[in-house]
Amino acid sequence: MQMSRRSFVRNSALGAAFAFAPRLLSETNGVVSRIDVLFDEPLGVISPNIYGHFTENLGGVVYDGIWVGRDSKVANIGGIRKTLVEALREIRSPVIRWPGGCFADSYDWHDGIGPADKRPRRTNFWADDPQARGQGNVPQKFDPNQFGTDEFVQFCRLAGSEPYIAGNVRSLSVMDFDRWVEYCNSPAGSTTLADQRAADGNREPFNVRYWGIGNEQWGCGGNFTPAEYASELRRILAYLPRYGLDLSFIASGPNVDDWNWTRGFLQALASKGPDQLLSVYGLSLHYYAWNLSRGRTEDWIAGKGDAVKFDPVDWYELLVQGQRLESLIEGHWQVMSELDPAHHVKLVVDEWGPWYRPGSEVRPTDYLGQMITLRDAVFSAMSLDIFNRHPEQVAMANCAQMINCLNSLFIAHDDKLVLTPVYHVFKMYRSHQSGQALRSVFSGPDLQYQRDGKSAKIWNLKGSASLRDRILTLSVVNPSVEQPCQAEICLYGANVGSGEVSTLTHNDIHAHNSFDAPTVVTTETKKVEFSGQTFRWTFPARSVTAFQVSLV
Ligand code: AHR
Repeated sequence: MQMSRRSFVRNSALGAAFAFAPRLLSETNGVVSRIDVLFDEPLGVISPNIYGHFTENLGGVVYDGIWVGRDSKVANIGGIRKTLVEALREIRSPVIRWPGGCFADSYDWHDGIGPADKRPRRTNFWADDPQARGQGNVPQKFDPNQFGTDEFVQFCRLAGSEPYIAGNVRSLSVMDFDRWVEYCNSPAGSTTLADQRAADGNREPFNVRYWGIGNEQWGCGGNFTPAEYASELRRILAYLPRYGLDLSFIASGPNVDDWNWTRGFLQALASKGPDQLLSVYGLSLHYYAWNLSRGRTEDWIAGKGDAVKFDPVDWYELLVQGQRLESLIEGHWQVMSELDPAHHVKLVVDEWGPWYRPGSEVRPTDYLGQMITLRDAVFSAMSLDIFNRHPEQVAMANCAQMINCLNSLFIAHDDKLVLTPVYHVFKMYRSHQSGQALRSVFSGPDLQYQRDGKSAKIWNLKGSASLRDRILTLSVVNPSVEQPCQAEICLYGANVGSGEVSTLTHNDIHAHNSFDAPTVVTTETKKVEFSGQTFRWTFPARSVTAFQVSLV
């Protein structure tokens, strides 16, 4: 018999008591946590696009990472790294954002079309970054423009992803924006730019749907005030050619908890009439966890934590910082409801991930590059679970950045490509895409740890659940650096049968994959057989676990 809603309410009360007053392990038969999955409380469909990626023309992301060149000895398809697109297909990469980031508002798309040998070379936005200083005139400071719009769209097609182009608001005109859309989307043979596209090898339109109206307009995108930016955006969207397509425009949104930006921008946009809000599909939110803590300086670079050399307390601090994303989503959503109660505008978290100080990058010219450890995998799983729990609010998210950079899924150089622990998480979680998110309640005693001689705490298990084609995907993170956690998993409204479970963990919290040792952190998958509504599972310390089990 399936457990009723009423008995769930009674049991939840017990669960809550259980959470706040944990009994001795001997009394609970080793069970210290509980996960209640509520099949009659669907939260909405998880957009596949929250499993999206971000690629900026920065350091080793595009050149060396994605683009190896048509004449390269490295296996490629039209200049694009072959092993990369194969790996992206494997995780069902849904959408890729390009060309930035801050680079976007300094990029002239005209430079990246036409015959490759005629394209101009330009200064890259990142040439003056502190990491680039003192390196001389290395190629990474300049843009050879070999990877332009056609190459990006080709990359997306090979990877099975939708292109998401961030336009330039700071340093190009509205007409240039119109013309970029025309180059991409005007019908074959219709305009001079359609002919140019055909001459560049693409007769049929690209039908690019997602367009970012600049990037970080409060900072590198032009230092606008919310009202100034709203007026720029209104000007751009007053007429942007559509060619019969339902285009989705993403406005540059807040950084972290800048509620004033969200409120000020939406107020200014709607001041011309509430229907102005209808022109915007998404408001971007950027959130990086800096691991700033514990006696380091406040310096923008040196003050950050290290990607590889960290203590257990840094592990916890980073996860606590990352968990803040949930309250940011809920907080901005609340502010958005003041001006857009029907919630026409969704959140697009198009940059997220941990960001450490320099030093662990594979090559000094991989600006913002960092080594990716088990900690980043746990962080990423936790972030994807947050998105899964907010399907109504979050329409898209793009992990920053795909390769040779911040929270990367890949590290590549020459003919070598390594799958990082973060890649494995995206693979484990791919079955959440398009699933119906189910409310799930995780209860258990918080974990205590010491921070600068004071007691601090972090949740004990967290995760998310979704249902698609009668397959339940349940993903769970155990953040403890040392304690496995046994949980009772109760399904309200369904019985489970067989399936499989994948686990990602390692004895060493610093474990990572490198060119010399590419499979130190990998996923272990095995078959499981359950029956009924309840089962128990022990989640290893420092782990990410994903079940895919069929309902019977
Ligand atoms: O991802 C690196 C940079 O972080 C992006 O260029 C910018 O948008 C953000 O500040």
